[in-house]
Amino acid sequence: MTTNILVIPGDGIGPEIVSQAVRVIEHLRDAASLDVNLEYADLGGAAYDKTGHSLPDSTLSMAKACDAILFGAAGGPKWDNLPRSERPETALLRLRRELDLFANLRPAILFPSLASSSSLKDEIVAGLNILIIRELTGGIYFGEPRGVETLDSGRRRGINTLIYHDDEVIRIAHVAFNIARQRGNRVCSIDKANVLETTEFWREVVTEVGTEYPDVELTHMLVDNAAMQLVRDPKQFDVIVTTNMFGDILSDISAMLTGSIGMLPSASLDNNQKGLYEPVHGTAPDIAGEDKANPMAMILSLAMLLRYTMKEDNLADLVEQSVESVIERGLRTPDIYFAGAEEVGTERMGTEVLSELKQRLN
Ligand code: IPM
Ligand code: MG
Repeated sequence: MTTNILVIPGDGIGPEIVSQAVRVIEHLRDAASLDVNLEYADLGGAAYDKTGHSLPDSTLSMAKACDAILFGAAGGPKWDNLPRSERPETALLRLRRELDLFANLRPAILFPSLASSSSLKDEIVAGLNILIIRELTGGIYFGEPRGVETLDSGRRRGINTLIYHDDEVIRIAHVAFNIARQRGNRVCSIDKANVLETTEFWREVVTEVGTEYPDVELTHMLVDNAAMQLVRDPKQFDVIVTTNMFGDILSDISAMLTGSIGMLPSASLDNNQKGLYEPVHGTAPDIAGEDKANPMAMILSLAMLLRYTMKEDNLADLVEQSVESVIERGLRTPDIYFAGAEEVGTERMGTEVLSELKQRLN
C-alpha cells in the first residue's frame, strides 16, 4: 500500500532542510522500492503570504487525507505581529489538534563524537539516550476559558486553564509504557502534584495505567526537580512522560544536553500510526537561504517517519546510521562546528548522508 507523505517546507530554513530529507526519501523510493507518494503544501508564513491564511483549508484537508507529514519549521519575525489567529505558531497548534496528534516523541540522543559540543561535561552526557513523550493536544495549551479581559472594576486579567481529562492521560500513558518496553523499561512521569490538582490527578491516572505494565518501572518526579535532574544527571532517565507545557520546557533542556538542537528530530503521533515529523529546532531566520542550516534533525525526523508510520525499522536504522557516520567522519555544519572539523553546508551534508545510505543499501 502506498504511503502518502505530505511535505510542508514552511518558513526560514525549512525549505532547504526539507529538500535534503526529500532527496533521501526519493532515493529510498527509487532504489529500495519504498512505496511512497509525495505531495506538497504550504503552512505558516509562506502560506500566509500566498493566501492570507497561515493554515489554508487546502493544507488542512491534505493533511487530514495523508498518512504522514514531513514538516520543516514555521514562523519568523516577519509574521510576529499578525493577529494571534493567523500566526504561524497557531497554524501548527491547530494542525496538531485537528489531526489528534497527541503523542509527541522527542528523543535526546548524543552521538559520541558530539559529546564535547554539549554545555555539560562529557562524562555526564556521553551515551545519553532519553525520550521525552509530551502530551501535545491538551493541557494549558488548549484549555478553556482563556484570554485577556477587563473586569467592571477596570482591573484587567489574563486567563489560561490547565485541564486534563482521564482519557487524555490514559492514552499518553499507554504510549509511554509501550515504548518503554522497547527500550530501557523505565518511565518517569513528571508533574507538579504538590501544587496543581490537575497534575496530582495526572499522577493518579498514570499510576493506574502503570498497573497494566508490571514489567515497566514507573517513578514520578516534580517538574522543578526534573529540570534540575536533567542537567545534574540526565542519564538516570529512560522515558519521560509529561504534560504539554512541562514537555515543551523540558524538551528544550534535553535538546541542549546533546550539544546541538540542529540534530534532534521529533514525531507527533495519533492513535493510528499517522504522524507529523519535524525537527525540534525552529526556522532560524538569521541563516535562512545561506546553505548553513544543519539538515540532520530533518533527516532523522524522516527516519522516525519510516519507523513509526511505515514500520520500516530497517530503513530507519540505515538512515540513522548514515547520519551518524557522516558526523563521525568529522563533517560539521556551523552549529556543531569545532576547530579542526570540516565545515560544510546544508546541501553537502545531505549529499554525504545519501552516499552513506547508498553504500548501505548495496
Ligand atoms: C515546540 C514549540 C511550539 C510549542 C511553539 C512554536 C508553538 O515551542 O514545538 O516545542 O510550544 O509547542
Ligand atoms: Mg518548544
